[in-house]
Amino acid sequence: MDYKKYIAEHLHIDGVGEEELYDLIALPPNLEMGDYALPCFKFAKLMRKSPVMIAEELKQSVMSDEVIMSDKVLSEVSAVNGYLNFKINKTGFVAATLDRILKEKERYGASEEGVGKTICIDYSSINIAKPFHIGHLSTTVLGGALYRIFNFLGYKSVGINHLGDYGTQFGKLISAYKRWGDKKTIEEGGIRALNELYVRFHREAEEHPEYDDEARTYFKKIEQGDEECLALFRWFKELTLKDVQKIYDLLDIHFDSYAGESFFSDKMQPVVDELREKGLLIESRGAQVVDLEAYGMPPCIILKSDGTSLYATRDMAAAIYRKETYDFDKCLYVVAYQQNLHFKQFFKVLELMGKEWSKDLVHVAYGMVSLEEGTMSTRKGNVVFLEDVINKCIEKAYTIIDEKNPDLENKEDVAQKVGVGAVIFGALYNNKIKDIVFSYDKVLTFDGETSVYVQYTCARAQSVLQKGGVPEQYEIPELCPQEIELVKAISSFPEAVKTAAEKYEPSVIARFAVDVAQKFNKFYFDCKILAAEDERTKNFRLVLTNATLQALKNAFALLGIGIPDKM
Ligand code: ARG
Repeated sequence: MDYKKYIAEHLHIDGVGEEELYDLIALPPNLEMGDYALPCFKFAKLMRKSPVMIAEELKQSVMSDEVIMSDKVLSEVSAVNGYLNFKINKTGFVAATLDRILKEKERYGASEEGVGKTICIDYSSINIAKPFHIGHLSTTVLGGALYRIFNFLGYKSVGINHLGDYGTQFGKLISAYKRWGDKKTIEEGGIRALNELYVRFHREAEEHPEYDDEARTYFKKIEQGDEECLALFRWFKELTLKDVQKIYDLLDIHFDSYAGESFFSDKMQPVVDELREKGLLIESRGAQVVDLEAYGMPPCIILKSDGTSLYATRDMAAAIYRKETYDFDKCLYVVAYQQNLHFKQFFKVLELMGKEWSKDLVHVAYGMVSLEEGTMSTRKGNVVFLEDVINKCIEKAYTIIDEKNPDLENKEDVAQKVGVGAVIFGALYNNKIKDIVFSYDKVLTFDGETSVYVQYTCARAQSVLQKGGVPEQYEIPELCPQEIELVKAISSFPEAVKTAAEKYEPSVIARFAVDVAQKFNKFYFDCKILAAEDERTKNFRLVLTNATLQALKNAFALLGIGIPDKM
């Protein structure tokens, strides 16, 4: 609960708004006096009274306010030297938090604030026949988390995989396949086999420039709807999607649309026409561009001199299509910061076209992920396949778990949750714009700021609950600081979810989970749960343990990380 907000909402001072009050409320000069304080000096002029008198009067009005008194949120209000001091009723706060969590269960932290609003999220957006590599990790898990977070807040999330399935590279692939490929190898090898063909094409085309001409011809044929070329193209796409689906399943990632770049090949002409009509297109060295000099940017190229479209042209058609199809309130693009300029450019062009909704397009930029040197076993050139990273994490997790708890049942399942969780958490724990160096050892430490630390804490809580049961009723005993700290931490979950959505920053939730786990462990080691001094305290602590577990489960569910029952 946000106490400052509670106080600001319930105090009434003529001429002073709730927000202003909220900002004024601070910690009292002397912490003995209370948990919060409102300095009344600023109101002296307005109310033509001394701050001391104002504080005294406000105190009287709070004490005679029936709502405040019956809420029992505040335990004491005092007026001292021009300050109005508040003490929070810890018992009431603890009871309110626990009751809420136990009542709302897996909905704890959810809200209805987004009901009726739609958020499109363009994420993962892989390239067909190209490796799904470590660089796609962040967009995939960040986008996946945002997708769930917005749904949790009542919005309708629309997940879009804007496939990179357009361009001469598909002509190259057809040319390479026809020359060197064979059906079975490709069928079995999937993306890796397709990528090998592609790499070989580039190598050999250096000596045979005519291959490039052939590739261009094939690409034209795809565009013109040539049956054979189109069939091959569709097959490459199918193989790629089948391959990445394995990873999406592991990471719990879903899409509502796979409308990629090629989907827009027949939807670009109207955009070009509109740009021309509005006088925005100018010719520059044979190409058609929109001049953005006034905005400090290089021109946005719409058509190349040979009349072909560009990535930006397709993105503009896609944005218009999304607005028409989904009528989004926001459309997010979870794409690396390397593409900053691209997004700024085409957002600006849409604005210049008079699309007032262009203000609702958001580039959710994130930093690079690289691997610690020498930790990778499978290296294909310098491409690191995401699948290999995930599998290696699962294997390592298995080894660790096997060492720690050789008798554990379903170790494979636990290793999968731990390994996959480590990969996701590794990418989500830091502020998204930071570059990250991924280290297997770091993401799998049991006593660091890691997912396995949180998972292990949950297993600990589950084991306590298994032994002690989950009481239906409880009373609040004399509280110790560890308990209050833990309750404060879990009570901040709804706020954390909101902030994560507002800032497009799932790391807020990851950090919430680590903070709660740390506070729980402190409580666990300092206060006895099962061997508590009396039945009432034991009951209460079991309920607190259960509520903590629920909060952690909800947080991890939003991040897409599973929690094993035992570890
Ligand atoms: N396929 C692109 C890439 O790998 C990312 C696409 C992002 N989405 C978009 N609408 N431009 O770089």
